[in-house]
Amino acid sequence: MSLTVTPSGQACGASVRGVDLSKPLARETAAAIREAWLAHQVLAFPGQKLTDEQLEAFTLNFGPFGDDPFIAPIPGHPHIIAVKRKADETAPIFAESWHSDWSFQATPPQGTCLYGITIPPTGGDTLFANQYLALEQMPADLRKRIEGKRAVHSARNAYAPTGFYGAGDKGRSMDIRPSDDAGATQLHDLIHIHPETGRESLFGTAGYIVGIDGMHPEDAAALIAELYRWQTRPEFQYRHKWSPDMLLMWDNRCTLHMATGGYAGHDRLLHRTTIGAT
Ligand code: SIN
Repeated sequence: MSLTVTPSGQACGASVRGVDLSKPLARETAAAIREAWLAHQVLAFPGQKLTDEQLEAFTLNFGPFGDDPFIAPIPGHPHIIAVKRKADETAPIFAESWHSDWSFQATPPQGTCLYGITIPPTGGDTLFANQYLALEQMPADLRKRIEGKRAVHSARNAYAPTGFYGAGDKGRSMDIRPSDDAGATQLHDLIHIHPETGRESLFGTAGYIVGIDGMHPEDAAALIAELYRWQTRPEFQYRHKWSPDMLLMWDNRCTLHMATGGYAGHDRLLHRTTIGAT
């Protein structure tokens, strides 16, 4: 089997053809996919007809399942969540803010797989921001101010009962379960070394980052906001356009991502797994 990897021409991302993901992957094919993933950070596999079991099997080629808190799994599949929105839904779009998945965990996941089932005819793109590039091109003064600093990550702004998806979040078709557990905090270096590529990258952003260890909250908020503006600049971005039966996998250790809207009046449904750290 020979993979064809076509870069997006944007700041990251590539599409991959020449493999049938519904079949068990040979060891060398999985290794070639991992190599392409590490090189391009986001891989899209168009035209893949996958059952939930095949999505799970694909995920396990790259690590164990991650732990998905605050969102109920789909029935019979404890490691799959449904990212869904009904045509007439009026709740804010899920995940429409930049983040690295579950960065508030002690050991955040390596990556995420997202499989497109019902894809609206327009809108619903997913944006990515390359955090190697954001760091490489960062002005020296900003870099100096974040070097050696540890960010305080928490799910509280999103998943606490008082958070974005908390008690007031009505009429959403996704089964989100806010919890007081979202108040927990976890420290991670703002600049970390990607464990596989050995490259330096920024990790996480405002939203799940709620403070900077040892810094006055007001100073930290200003620095986090400045950093966010830099991390998400258009020149670091890749805009992913979906089609049905497309599988996407991204590396949470060196990218940020966010959902976008623009498909009111259309259903959207994707199934998601996370690739845990090894
Ligand atoms: C996500 O962050 O997992 C959802 C992305 C999307 O809905 O485009």
